Amino acid sequence: MTMTIEGRTALVTGGAVRIGRTISAALARAGAAVAVHYRASRAAAAALVQELRREGRRALAVPGRLDTPADAERLFQRAVRAAGPLDILVNNAAVFDKDSWTAMTPAALQAELSVNLMAPMALMRAFAAQGRPGVVINLLDRRIAGLDPACVPYEISKKALAEATRSAAWAWAPCIRVNAVAPGVVLPPPGEGPNRVRDLAGWIPLGRTVPLEDIAEAVLYLIRAESITGQILFVDGGQHLAGAGPWGTASRPSRGHTRRRGRRPSPASLRMGRAPCHGQLCRPNGRTGGRA
Ligand SMILES: NC(=O)c1ccc[n+]([C@@H]2O[C@H](COP(=O)([O-])OP(=O)(O)OC[C@H]3O[C@@H](n4cnc5c(N)ncnc54)[C@H](OP(=O)(O)O)[C@@H]3O)[C@@H](O)[C@H]2O)c1
Repeated sequence: MTMTIEGRTALVTGGAVRIGRTISAALARAGAAVAVHYRASRAAAAALVQELRREGRRALAVPGRLDTPADAERLFQRAVRAAGPLDILVNNAAVFDKDSWTAMTPAALQAELSVNLMAPMALMRAFAAQGRPGVVINLLDRRIAGLDPACVPYEISKKALAEATRSAAWAWAPCIRVNAVAPGVVLPPPGEGPNRVRDLAGWIPLGRTVPLEDIAEAVLYLIRAESITGQILFVDGGQHLAGAGPWGTASRPSRGHTRRRGRRPSPASLRMGRAPCHGQLCRPNGRTGGRA
């Protein structure tokens, strides 16, 4: 059976830019009224809402921080006041900092766990407390399938959110379905150039980065699929198959034309973020540069 999106009301966190923007637009174009959450991207949220309204779609912008569970609860109530009871919640907003075990600080760990785990869990609880049927989609990362010692707080926050997805799906069935999408390389972090992800494409099994639209399609699919709950859908060109490693595919032998499209990561960069190794392998601050 298929749930219709037409006529539903959705909240998309971090919904004004990048992946969140594509999801907000796809939901609105599928007929949902969309509350586009933003924190700093006020102008982008307003522009998206205007664009969607010009098309005859329903959308509004909702500001808010997601630094604490209380922030998340306030945002939820603000969205309900503006848009009405919610049928769909998309937890997309996230913090992504590359911090190794050696580089990370308690504050960095706290920040990533707060925004990437505690806030989505608080929003999920508020969503369930409405006492009505609905669907939650959490945005994870293909890194949950392996280990990335260069992104420790981020990886742990997303792995915990994966478990929260399954736990809530079990607890809230049959009223609320809870699923997740785990993207691979989609966009470089804000401020980084597209070369960064192009460099990595050759190391992805399917040989290309993931188009934004593919993430939105996966979100729409999981919302509609009434027989699916507790699932994590990897949309990553197969990167999760390789499991561990900063690039996921770094340990695969070079073969075929797709392998040559990417620059081979240096041995030093592959070890980045590991424990101090007598100065020859780690950068001084243990950080790396790119999202993917
Ligand atoms: N980009 C990729 O290639 C990739 C790969 C794997 C997984 N993912 C996952 O997919 C999702 C979207 O990725 P993305 O790269 O598009 O996300 P992003 O640009 O890193 O972040 C999305 C939005 O989250 C909001 N946000 C961050 N901290 C916040 C806070 N403290 N309070 C409220 N809002 C906050 C920001 O909204 P404002 O701009 O309004 O401040 C930001 O624009 C994330 O969950 C990410 O982990 C992305």
